[in-house]
Amino acid sequence: MCGIVGYIGHEPAAPVLLDGLRRLEYRGYDSAGVAVPGAEAIEIVRAVGKLRNLETALAARPLSGTVGIGHTRWATHGRPSEVNAHPHVSGPIAVVHNGIIENHGALRKELIERGVTISSDTDTELVAHLVHEAVRQGRNLEAAVRAALGRLHGAYALAVLSHDEPRRIVVAKNASPLVLGLGTDRGDGPDAVYCASDIPALLPYTRQMLFLEDGEMAVLSDEGATITTVAGEPVTRAPQRIDWSPIMAEKAGFKHFMLKEIFEQPRAMEDTLRGRLDRTRGEVVGAEIGLEGSDVSRVARVVLLACGTSHHAAIAGRYWLEELTGLPAVVELASEFRGRRPVIGDGDLVVAVSQSGETLDTLVAAKEAKARGARVLSIANVIGSALPRMSDAVFYTRAGPEIGVASTKAFTTQLAALVMLAIWLGRQRGHLTEARAAALVEGLARLPNQMQEVLHGTRQLIANLARRQVEARDVLFLGRGLSFPIALEGALKLKEVSYVHAEGYAAGEMKHGPIALIDPHVPVLVLLPKDENYERSLSNLEEAKAREAIVIAIATEGDDAARDASETLIEVPAVDPELTPFLTVLPLQLYAYYVADFKGTDVDQPRNLAKTVTVE
Ligand code: M6R
Repeated sequence: MCGIVGYIGHEPAAPVLLDGLRRLEYRGYDSAGVAVPGAEAIEIVRAVGKLRNLETALAARPLSGTVGIGHTRWATHGRPSEVNAHPHVSGPIAVVHNGIIENHGALRKELIERGVTISSDTDTELVAHLVHEAVRQGRNLEAAVRAALGRLHGAYALAVLSHDEPRRIVVAKNASPLVLGLGTDRGDGPDAVYCASDIPALLPYTRQMLFLEDGEMAVLSDEGATITTVAGEPVTRAPQRIDWSPIMAEKAGFKHFMLKEIFEQPRAMEDTLRGRLDRTRGEVVGAEIGLEGSDVSRVARVVLLACGTSHHAAIAGRYWLEELTGLPAVVELASEFRGRRPVIGDGDLVVAVSQSGETLDTLVAAKEAKARGARVLSIANVIGSALPRMSDAVFYTRAGPEIGVASTKAFTTQLAALVMLAIWLGRQRGHLTEARAAALVEGLARLPNQMQEVLHGTRQLIANLARRQVEARDVLFLGRGLSFPIALEGALKLKEVSYVHAEGYAAGEMKHGPIALIDPHVPVLVLLPKDENYERSLSNLEEAKAREAIVIAIATEGDDAARDASETLIEVPAVDPELTPFLTVLPLQLYAYYVADFKGTDVDQPRNLAKTVTVE
């Protein structure tokens, strides 16, 4: 997992590259570097650790020039070190890379046998040598990159510079994201051309963006971007305007992106719902879901595929799909689905859920399902990412850029997409009554305000609670039914950002083992909304209390039984029982955030984690 950036323009390249890398730091942050074509040779500056170390190195050794490439790394081959940091250089060639070259072992052996000296442990350096060899054989940069690509198996987004062609960058993509940006048109070409792993890196500079597809490459120059397939066929693609404002990618006054994104959820929810609910008719607007016009009567089963937080959203999706459509629905961890010989095919609707749309396991699982004849609907946040591109239908969540590694607003907007899908499908199949659909549509429309109320109403209470529990070593989250995936999500959030051991359990499973964990030092957060599971969940809360756990209930306003039974009561407004997850997850996100903040962890970039997992 890494972030790459490239620039050709008329401004000094290094500050533009650094700025882009800063916006990509969520993709990896164990080392970083930049390269520019200097007067005599390619010049590089690299540094281990966070980007500020690269800034310091550049201050000590400034790079001049108006063309360059940069990289922020999350190690896959070779430990974090300066020699393993990108860019990697071979003669006049410099390369930055995101992805994994699977045949690196064979290539390394082959290059060594040809007498090439390899300095790093990375797969990327091998690419630099392959391009350099092709240049030495008389090819120009574009042809040399094309020749090298023919030798690579695996995932890559590459940007390649040559000292011999100093106003060109050649980029290529396969299974790793890459976006191109075009500056203002000056008649004879744009005033600048950019490339990056993700949209936010380019937002301050341009809104005109082009998305490369797998198996494509492009030559960036002062004339613009010329796209071809790796085989050399020309590709014509118009730029898309991306309306995300740069400010949407900033912290907007919050201490961390995670907190900002938690508080953005009411707005994100509004965006997700906008134009998709017809409140007059009490319907979900089918044209927005991506399935309208398709023969949904052929759908015999829904298979949800996802990883991490998106997997928790998918579990909630399964409840909704079964309840509201009457269809059988199963949820699969994408990483596990891939490892089997899944029985799937025509008649199955695969719903692949992914914030980034680039999670490799989800992408590969969805491709496998498609190859076996299933129809794939993706629920994704990042426009133009790989998963939507390979899908038969797409439903974008519109959460906006999510920078914090811990997913928050992406989760609640995924929930919204899934429940809208279930409502629409339920009506199409005649399983859901008009009146019930209309009630759910009304309930959804009210959520943004209710989410706002919960966030502002519980923030201080939860911050105080987190301060008291900052030393807790184990925390349990319990829930039944739709609250079960919320318990899983609460535990994942806490683990990720605070490094506290946490478990999410189906409350009914407690007595089958986990109850042994409970002692007076263990906080137990019980999800207790007023739904059909309420009484049984209350009993589970009592069981925890009887074992002297520190019990925190997340319950419906005015629930006196929950108040009496818990040490701390966190209240959320009463909503339709199908919609409780949208509100009950918010206190758990805040809890994870504040425990982490009081502990002083790196909330937005927790250790060992990367935002998008594009490796296996
Ligand atoms: O981009 P995706 O939704 O496919 O990502 C899936 C997981 O990697 C992601 O949800 C991860 O678990 C987050 N760090 C959770 O906060």
